[in-house]
Amino acid sequence: MKNFKRYLVTSALPYANGPVHIGHLAGVYIPSDIYVRYLRLKGRDVVWVCGSDEHGVPITIKARQEGVTPQDIVDKYHNIIKNSFAKLGISFDIYSRTTSPVHYDTASDFFRKLYDKNVFEEQVTLQYYDEEAKQFLADRYITGSCPHCQNDKAYGDQCEKCGTTLSPNDLINPKSAITGSIPVKKETKHWYLPLNKYEEFLREWILEGHKEWKVNVYGQCKSWLDLGLQPRAVSRDLDWGIPVPVEGAEGKVLYVWFDAPIGYISASKELTVDWEKYWKDEETKLVHFIGKDNIVFHCIVFPAMLKAHGGYILPENVPANEFLNLEGDKISTSRNWAVWLHEYLEDMPGKEDVLRYVLCANAPETKDNDFTWKDFQARNNNELVAILGNFINRAVVLTDKYYEGVVPECGTLTPYDQEILQEIPKIKKSVEENIENYRFREALREAMNLARLGNKYLADTEPWKLVKTEPERVKTILNIAIQISANLAIVCEPFMPFTAEKILGLLNIEKFGWEELGRTDLIEAGHKLNKPELLFEKIEDSVIEAQLLKLENTKKSNMANEAVDIEPQKESVTFEDFMKMDIRVSKVLEAEKVPKTKKLLKLTVDTGIDKRVIVSGIAEFYSPEDMIGRQVLVLVNLEPRTIKGIESQGMILMAQTTDGRMVTVKPAEDIVTGAFIG
Ligand code: 2FM
Ligand code: ZN
Repeated sequence: MKNFKRYLVTSALPYANGPVHIGHLAGVYIPSDIYVRYLRLKGRDVVWVCGSDEHGVPITIKARQEGVTPQDIVDKYHNIIKNSFAKLGISFDIYSRTTSPVHYDTASDFFRKLYDKNVFEEQVTLQYYDEEAKQFLADRYITGSCPHCQNDKAYGDQCEKCGTTLSPNDLINPKSAITGSIPVKKETKHWYLPLNKYEEFLREWILEGHKEWKVNVYGQCKSWLDLGLQPRAVSRDLDWGIPVPVEGAEGKVLYVWFDAPIGYISASKELTVDWEKYWKDEETKLVHFIGKDNIVFHCIVFPAMLKAHGGYILPENVPANEFLNLEGDKISTSRNWAVWLHEYLEDMPGKEDVLRYVLCANAPETKDNDFTWKDFQARNNNELVAILGNFINRAVVLTDKYYEGVVPECGTLTPYDQEILQEIPKIKKSVEENIENYRFREALREAMNLARLGNKYLADTEPWKLVKTEPERVKTILNIAIQISANLAIVCEPFMPFTAEKILGLLNIEKFGWEELGRTDLIEAGHKLNKPELLFEKIEDSVIEAQLLKLENTKKSNMANEAVDIEPQKESVTFEDFMKMDIRVSKVLEAEKVPKTKKLLKLTVDTGIDKRVIVSGIAEFYSPEDMIGRQVLVLVNLEPRTIKGIESQGMILMAQTTDGRMVTVKPAEDIVTGAFIG
């Protein structure tokens, strides 16, 4: 493995269109904070940059919704995000923003350099235009049906339901998100980065050179490369963003995904005059921490940009996590389904490390994971309080009680003492290996093993039983317990900096470097400790119930909002028309899947009039077994239709749920088969 002289760590720039939530924290900011704190403790030369991503359509949409300017939106959220990160102990060396003047210059110069090198292809294409708003409809300004999953709320850049990357031309029945009107196509010129020309370099660099990347990252890169790369537009027709810095580009700005990663460079420039050392010297290890939806931009697009520019190093690794869900549901900013960091900090003062701990212990490192408040409570009560807090408390309280807080002498070590102490360097090694390989959950588990070890030591040696009979032995035991406590202050620092600080306070000592971890003489005999205090407190059910209630209310208000979205009423029908419909209570007798289809079930139903076959598009929601024996309502006099070669004689009536499922409807009481509805 290559030995690097210095580290440059970046964390994905969060969009300043909303506050950050636990999903962002678990995916990106907590892992990167642990990594950087660890490197700093090891005395490494490291800079860590981040900032707000302040361009892009989501921000202008939010501004329109709130009737304010995009600048107002980014100012508001930049401050909320920056402050809440700081309160959680996320220790960036700089938290900048992409509306900063340095960034404008850096991104413009970058574009200009590529332009002057003739890297870009200029293309005039037909793009959707809203004639009412007099605006081209880029990215999220256009919505329509996803061609892959039929979600009718897909955006021009992505379908959030199935996760597919889209372009506006892929959408079925496109609609302007500004006015709701049907857009027309109009010619416009843009600059394209010809990713196809970098395909070979990227294949070689990633697929051959970085087989050690996490499987999810490597796998996504491979499938993009296997599909073949296409030129990608790096400009947009918008009035919010960095103007394209060339002649004839009025009304055009840099695409947000072109300028945002350059934000890492701008932030480094703002941080230090030495920034080039970090960006241009092969002896720097560049690591991008990101979420899985950012993989293509960091592994394919940005490296191609850096390569095209020349002179910059490429990332050595791009650790991306999967997604964190909340109480079984996808976290969503628009549905307010999240635990927002700034609200957590207000609701749970002094519990910053509890959140850090839970989100790391449950981080979605290899698969999507779920955050639940019950798990949060259990991890606090059963792990932080019962293991870490309990050990430190016992060590400090016993020392206080027996020796008035003065650390006793360590006498002769027994073989058991030695066995215990030999575990500490092993834990150190394991934490190191795990952090250096981006396995933060495992690293934290190992760090907690040191507290488990301490508890085991006290439980096995039982100093409280020996204090009268073997006072010298008890001195050694408590000396060792205090040394383990000091080691815990070191090993906990990357994960729980506030707790590490508290342990140092209790022990009345200054911070140690990582290399001291494993030493058994960190605190001398005769040193006076501070008064004992609890590290963590138990979280009561009422606290958790309050958080669950908050989520319950969010759910209710979402349902109320969705109700506003209800389909408009159809045209009136006459009473006579309605009376023509013959709807009967029926019972499903048989059900089977229609071969070679995903959605169709062939049902044999008893309508009371007869037994007949109906083909119904409900296989996504019901299995044949679910349907057999079920009472349903059937429109029996619908003209028969042949579907997949089967004659369908009627229609099962279904209701649509707010999340798009179809469910059968039935009378509120048991009613005889064949009964008439009307
Ligand atoms: O997905 C996001 O939240 C983006 N704002 C991340 C940008 S990362 C970088 F390139 F700036
Ligand atoms: Zn889709």
